[in-house]
Amino acid sequence: MQHFLKIDDFNSAEFWSILESAMSMKRDDSFGTGGLHLEGKTLGMIFEKPSNRTRVSFEVGMFQLGGHAVYIQKQDIGMGSREPIADVARVLSRYVDGVVIRAMSHDTIAEFAAVSLVPVINGLSDLYHPCQAVADVLTIVEHKENLQGRKMVYVGDGNNVCVSLAQLCHLLGMEVVVACPRGYEPPVTGITIESDVRKAVANADVIYTDVWVSMGQEAETEKRLTDFKGFMVDMDLVKLAKPDAIVMHCLPAQRGFEITHEVFESPQSVVFDQAENRLHAQKAILVKLLG
Ligand code: CP
Ligand code: NVA
Repeated sequence: MQHFLKIDDFNSAEFWSILESAMSMKRDDSFGTGGLHLEGKTLGMIFEKPSNRTRVSFEVGMFQLGGHAVYIQKQDIGMGSREPIADVARVLSRYVDGVVIRAMSHDTIAEFAAVSLVPVINGLSDLYHPCQAVADVLTIVEHKENLQGRKMVYVGDGNNVCVSLAQLCHLLGMEVVVACPRGYEPPVTGITIESDVRKAVANADVIYTDVWVSMGQEAETEKRLTDFKGFMVDMDLVKLAKPDAIVMHCLPAQRGFEITHEVFESPQSVVFDQAENRLHAQKAILVKLLG
């Protein structure tokens, strides 16, 4: 049994197979039904934080695949308070065929997965956002076709989204540069860290950014807004990349902070393609793990 908690959990061949399956499900049926591969199966979805894209795309994806999803908020089951995480995991995994967890701490997901009888998927933790990265690479492939030799520049906080994206882009053959202030570097090997954001985006095929204050970091807001000054993706910065560069953001975005309204709404922005691709990518992940 396989879990998908972080990019390291699959190899490049497995990711290409997921991407092909996602593309095929997206292409073959514009209504997204693409075969009832998970008929009669149920996905548990435990969320400790708010979500639009992750929650809805997993729930809709299960429905389109012929299965069912059960949304469980932290307070409903009291995971770690009403009952130990391992007990919740050993009960739930006797009812359902897979579990998505969005948790404050990655340790919660790892502790659950260690005793789960069914596959566990990370729906975002403080360390990683692997499902987002798969949807993002699907979006890059759609817009750029070939990944080899393409340059992906992430601007901003070396956070959960950045780590998974940088790891997957590197694994699949892209050049990865992260432009961030000192102290905010992602712990990823094989990539370039650059504190000069203008230098970083030169010749970029993809510019990616995410919020400066992630969920759970609200107490650090003042310090972060100071530290990230100069790391906003604006038109002047985008003009330093290739003329056909695409601009990406996992959403939700804070316009006027990490990205300007002008860039967000520009023809180079593919943020809603990314959001749509969460559905297609996750359906492929679900079929691989639960099918
Ligand atoms: N990008 C993303 O994960 O969005 P949600 O927080 O709305 O799920
Ligand atoms: N880095 C953001 C991503 C939200 C999808 C957060 O963790 O809040």
